Amino acid sequence: MVIRFQDELRRLNDLGLLEELLKDKTTGRNILWGTDAYSGLGPGYRRDEEMQVSLITGEHAGLLKNRAAKAQEQQSERTKQHAEVFTPLWICRKMIDYADEMWSGGEAKSWQQYVDSRRMEITCGEAPFLVSRYDVTSGESVPLENRIGILDRKLRAAGENTETEEDWLKWALRALRACYGYEFQGDSVLLSRLNLLGTFEEYLSARWSRKPTAAEYAAVTEIVTWNLWQMDGLTKTIPFSETEENTDQLSLFQNLDGDSPPGPRSRTKCVIYDWQNKKEVVFADLPARGSHGMKFDFIIGNPPYQEEVEDSENKTFMPPVYNLFIDGAYELSDKVELIHPARFLFNAGQTPKAWNEKMLADTHLKVIHYEPDGSKVFPNTEIKGGLAITYHDKMHSYGAIEVFTKYDELNSILHKVKAKGLNKNLSSIMFNQNRFRACFKNGKRLYYFNKIAIAPT
Ligand SMILES: C[S@@+](CC[C@H](N)C(=O)[O-])C[C@H]1O[C@@H](n2cnc3c(N)ncnc32)[C@H](O)[C@@H]1O
Repeated sequence: MVIRFQDELRRLNDLGLLEELLKDKTTGRNILWGTDAYSGLGPGYRRDEEMQVSLITGEHAGLLKNRAAKAQEQQSERTKQHAEVFTPLWICRKMIDYADEMWSGGEAKSWQQYVDSRRMEITCGEAPFLVSRYDVTSGESVPLENRIGILDRKLRAAGENTETEEDWLKWALRALRACYGYEFQGDSVLLSRLNLLGTFEEYLSARWSRKPTAAEYAAVTEIVTWNLWQMDGLTKTIPFSETEENTDQLSLFQNLDGDSPPGPRSRTKCVIYDWQNKKEVVFADLPARGSHGMKFDFIIGNPPYQEEVEDSENKTFMPPVYNLFIDGAYELSDKVELIHPARFLFNAGQTPKAWNEKMLADTHLKVIHYEPDGSKVFPNTEIKGGLAITYHDKMHSYGAIEVFTKYDELNSILHKVKAKGLNKNLSSIMFNQNRFRACFKNGKRLYYFNKIAIAPT
């Protein structure tokens, strides 16, 4: 079965919630389309226009579909503009399982701590890491008992550990408050909000056989509208809040006013809500506030890989951006798990060499899965150098990667070699065929270092 968003939008509009679900808490206005994918439908659908209820309901119902349903119509254009590829359910499961393991760190932690642990999915699209109502790649809905999202797991923990409806509700709302995500494109932001709200409705129905009351709907809407917000992750501001048009308009206004010199309009920094301390915080200020600021216990996600940019001669090129999202995530949480292109692990590709080297020297970074053929994860995409799921933990040292190979066994040997002090500079042995050899004997791959056989772990 496939979820029909047009039915959900109609239902939520009838309940009087849709207007609120379109709100941007930073600007107090509505979220923007953030994509040109709908601009052919008229001026109200331009990427820098606000999304309005009237533009997505009535005769326009059916416009917003999940990515899988839209794949044929828009995917190629959107993929080009915003590097959209969607994480299949099995990868989300694998990554969240790992996140849970790393979060507990082998210590006994309570279910309440689990529910409250603040997690964020960066560049969340329809938020497949937060909730798994459907597989974003196929659109097929997932039965409640098979769901693996971060909120799903928190709600399950709340369900298994509470006796009364009142207590369940208290912890379900806390679970929602601990799930955050940001995204550039307005339609995805709205769908992610709908997905979290829908998930709450479904768990409530399964546990207490009822629908939310008006007050519960209002509370959940307030949380998801805050916690899933529209943001350009590269600038931490509202998309297009510094376009050429509005720079001009403002300069003109300032000239007439006479008080202030003409100057570029400042970007609108996104504001989020810290539920634990009950206060609004400017997202861009979080890294500088360090341990005094709001922290995310875990960051997970699948950042965009490239951005389409025009140079001065109007030639388009696609510089990588995932490195910027990785750096941004490391600033906001001690524990970060992301899936992204792997080329930098070989010190190759378009990411800056200095950045590659910084990553390869980072003792807090480890590769938990490498897939040389990206199309096995994201069908119909070619990702040169393959994909990696990496984990970064500021509280643990794993030893620098330094040299990465596509063979798991060889990677573990390289770590052993280094640990035993057989060589100070691992990169030298990779290029010195005499000293480091891999060969096949009786169908088995064997590795030698300075003619000493080394067993893989
Ligand atoms: C690789 S997709 C992943 C989407 C979703 N997390 C998933 O796994 O299915 C990357 C997402 O980043 C969004 N994106 C692209 N550029 C962005 C930016 N500058 N700021 C925030 N999000 C951006 C895209 O719209 C897209 O939804």
